[in-house]
Amino acid sequence: TQSSLSADAVELGDYQHYMQKEIFEQPQALAATLEMISGAQTFTPNLFGVAAPELLAGVQSVLILACGTSYHSGLVARYWIEQLAGVPCTVEIASEYRYRVSVPNPDQLVVAISQSGETADTLASVRHAKAQGMQRTLAICNVPESAIVRECALRFLTRAGPEIGVASTKAFTTQLAALFLLAATLAKQVGRLTPAVEAQHLNALRHLPVAVQKVLAGEADIKAWAAHFANKHHALFLGRGQHYPIALEGALKLKEISYIHAEGYPAGELKHGPLALVDKDMPVISIAPNDALLEKLKSNLKEVAARGGELYVFADADSAVEEEPGVHVLRLPEHYGLLSPVLHVVPLQLLSYHVALVKGTDVDKPRNLAKSVTVE
Ligand code: G6P
Repeated sequence: TQSSLSADAVELGDYQHYMQKEIFEQPQALAATLEMISGAQTFTPNLFGVAAPELLAGVQSVLILACGTSYHSGLVARYWIEQLAGVPCTVEIASEYRYRVSVPNPDQLVVAISQSGETADTLASVRHAKAQGMQRTLAICNVPESAIVRECALRFLTRAGPEIGVASTKAFTTQLAALFLLAATLAKQVGRLTPAVEAQHLNALRHLPVAVQKVLAGEADIKAWAAHFANKHHALFLGRGQHYPIALEGALKLKEISYIHAEGYPAGELKHGPLALVDKDMPVISIAPNDALLEKLKSNLKEVAARGGELYVFADADSAVEEEPGVHVLRLPEHYGLLSPVLHVVPLQLLSYHVALVKGTDVDKPRNLAKSVTVE
C-alpha cells in the first residue's frame, strides 16, 4: 500500500508514532500549503490552476465529494462557501453520490477532496459527475499526479507532506486551509469581499501556523484528560455550526485509533435522541468556541449536566464557560473567527492519540483500516 511504501522513506525522528509526528507537523504543513499567499494582497482564481479563471467564473453552486476525514473538511467548507461567497454548497459522501440518481448541473463546481488522490469511491464519483456533463471539476489533494488530480480540470495541492498514520490529521487541516482559499476566492469573484475584509482573511490565514502551534502547546492538559476516557465504551462529541463537523471528526478519530464507540452530534439535536444515552459512563466532549452560538451551546450542555453526564469542554480563552463539578474545561487561545475549526480539531486529535496510548492500541495502523481505500 501507499502507506507502507512511504513509511520506509519517512523517518520518525524524535517521535514515537507517525500520527504524533503528523499532529505536530501541522504548523509547517499549513505554512507550506499557504505559502502561495504569503505576499498576496488578494485572493485570485490562479491558485487553483491556469484554467481556473475560466472554469470558476459563473459557478452557480458547489458540490463537494469525499470520504472519511476528507468528507468532514468538506462539511466545514460548506459553512465558509455559503457564508463568504453566498454560493449554495452541498457535500456528499462519494460512495452515495456515485450510485444516486441526482440532478446534474453543468454550472456547478465539483470539488473532490482526498488526501491520497486514490480513493476508489471519490474517483468514481468525479467520473460519474463528468459523465453527466459536469466539467468544472477541482481536486483538493495531497498527492500530486494522483488519479483524482489527473481526473479533474483544476487542482489545488495541499503541502502536508507524506501522511503515514492511517488516521488523517495534517491532511485534514491543510484541506481546510485550501477550502478557505476557495471560499474566499469565490467570494471575491462575486464581489462579496471588501478590501478590508479580504485583508483580514489573508492575515488570519498567514497567522494560522502560529495559532495552531499555540494549541499544540496545551498537550499536557489533554494528556491528563485521556486517562478519563480509556476505560469508557462510548463517547459523545457535540458541536454547533461550523464546529459540528469538527465534532464528527473528533468522534471519528476516537473510533479509528482508540476503538471507543463515539458519535458526533449537532448540540441542538441532543434532545431528539442522544440525551437518552447520557449517564456518568458516557463522557460528553463539547467544542465551545466563543462564537455566536455559544449561548445556545451552553444551554445544551446544561441539559447534559442535569442528567448526570460528565462534560469535557474545549473552550476558547474568551468563552465564558466555568469549571464546576462534572464540568471540565480546557481553553484554547482567543476565538479565531471563521478559521476556528482548524484550531479546534487539534485538541481532539491529541485526545484520541493519548487515549490510544493509554489503551495500547496500534496508533498508526488501527485494526481493519487502510490508509488508502483503492477498492470499492
Ligand atoms: C481512509 C483513511 C481515512 C481517509 C479516507 C479518505 O478511510 O483511513 O483517513 O480520510 O480513507 O481518504 P482520502 O485519501 O480520499 O482522503
